[in-house]
Amino acid sequence: MEDKFYITTPIYYPSNKLTIGNAYTNIICDALARWNRKLGKEVFYLTGTDEHGQKISQSAQAVGKSEKEYLDNMVEDTKALWELLDISYDKFIRTTDSYHEKAVQKIFTQLYKTGYIYKGSYKGWYCTPCESFWTESQLKDGKCPDCGREVKFQEEEAYFFKLSEFGDKLLKLYNDHPEFLQPKSRVNEMVNNFIKPGLNDLCVSRTSVKWGVPVEFDPKHTIYVWIDALPNYITALGYGSEDDGLFKKFWPADIHVIGKEIVRFHAVIWPAILMALGLELPKTVYGHGWLLFGGDKLSKSKETNSAECIDPRILVPEYSSDAVRYYLYREIPFGYDGNYSTESLLNRFNADLSNNYGNLVSRTFSMVKKYCDFAIPKLSDLTDDDKKLQNLVEQEVNNTIDYMKHYDVTKATASIFNIFTEANTYIQKVQPWAVAKEENGQARLGTILRLLLETIRIGSELFEPFAPNSSRKVLSALGTEDKIFKNLDNFNGLQTGFKLNNLDILFPRLDVKAELEKLANLSK
Ligand code: MSP
Repeated sequence: MEDKFYITTPIYYPSNKLTIGNAYTNIICDALARWNRKLGKEVFYLTGTDEHGQKISQSAQAVGKSEKEYLDNMVEDTKALWELLDISYDKFIRTTDSYHEKAVQKIFTQLYKTGYIYKGSYKGWYCTPCESFWTESQLKDGKCPDCGREVKFQEEEAYFFKLSEFGDKLLKLYNDHPEFLQPKSRVNEMVNNFIKPGLNDLCVSRTSVKWGVPVEFDPKHTIYVWIDALPNYITALGYGSEDDGLFKKFWPADIHVIGKEIVRFHAVIWPAILMALGLELPKTVYGHGWLLFGGDKLSKSKETNSAECIDPRILVPEYSSDAVRYYLYREIPFGYDGNYSTESLLNRFNADLSNNYGNLVSRTFSMVKKYCDFAIPKLSDLTDDDKKLQNLVEQEVNNTIDYMKHYDVTKATASIFNIFTEANTYIQKVQPWAVAKEENGQARLGTILRLLLETIRIGSELFEPFAPNSSRKVLSALGTEDKIFKNLDNFNGLQTGFKLNNLDILFPRLDVKAELEKLANLSK
């Protein structure tokens, strides 16, 4: 097994208006990072902010602040959001960090010297809010195809990256390494929409944009978007600086997790830049789907008036970060688009977290308290019912591990919840309260409760990367606080005789209608 795991989110546009839609990428990455830490790997988990460009300057100006002042506030808000959602990143990079800016200049100069970057001139229709040039045919009714606003024709001297030289190399990459771009459907998209029609060279500098990194050898040019943003994945590790120890240790990345709208940049432009630099390529680029709000992605350039509560700053204090996270893993099929609705979040809270997991834990704990004076009982002879439960748990543990090898957080959380469902079904079947009344039933009762406690332990261990707070509470009440997975394959992980610690109700049942009304008021 590889002992290192390098995972990244895209660098975010700094904002104090991030929704659970934006947060989705980081929420996914956090589970993958925590999972790999629990496998015992040394994990490096990178996130950060994408801070250059005209739009930032305009936003800063609009509120009468310098770019730096404006950005510092936004970055603080962004970091506070990650803290609220228990995002356990190891490093936060800002593209305005000076080590990043210096490394980007070096990269640009190197690509120029090796002939991959040349000077030319750029013509096109420019949309200022989206910072995008469009060709005539891309415009929609003469307006920006992304945000629908006015565009203006611009021509300027610019540097270009020879992307056109990389078509065949990229086809070979997708062909030889099917794991490089996932899910599979994204490969066809790249091949048919971009590579087969022929790649154009990429404009990588602007003279009209001032807020950015100047080209070292021609400073009236500002390095434009992708040569600034994409290399964050290597500059964060010290590439292009004096101390590149982390780069040597962690590169190539195991996975770049990104939303599907930026797959082209990560699966076409980024590998081409890396090839031009003579560097190894990331092992996987995973383009996840979107959270849709009434059918809409809530694009960054659009304002949306949704009645839904999509603000994690409201949802998390009300329902816990575990619940919001769990809902997203479980409800949005990983790799595909999925609809967000607050009502389905609350329903899942009740059905899965409260009635299934929470109820299993609380009824088992109260039986151990009542019948065993809090002490973890020991296993004796197993019946067919016991063996059936054990087999099912074993199967779902294997399934979960397998799904997580493919990053499928949705199927993994479904498997974990099958474990809890099975345990609840087992309780109904073996009726421990009836066994308690039997003469000489103590040993049998002990076996039943021990099996249940072990099942809760195993399920909570698996659930910890997804819902770290509640599962840790359960594990610590059971007297196990292992940092890495242990005893997932047996029912002997607990200490016989250990007195269970008290545990509050994990997920108190919600009145969905009342909650929706409350949220409607809070969102206002
Ligand atoms: N700054 C660029 C990325 C540069 S990477 C070198 C960017 N930033 S972003 O803030 O717009 O997006 C950050 C992440 O949020 C992306 O992965 C994006 O797909 C994700 N999401 C934003 N809205 C989303 C949904 N509604 N649903 C799921 N994820 C979406 O792009």
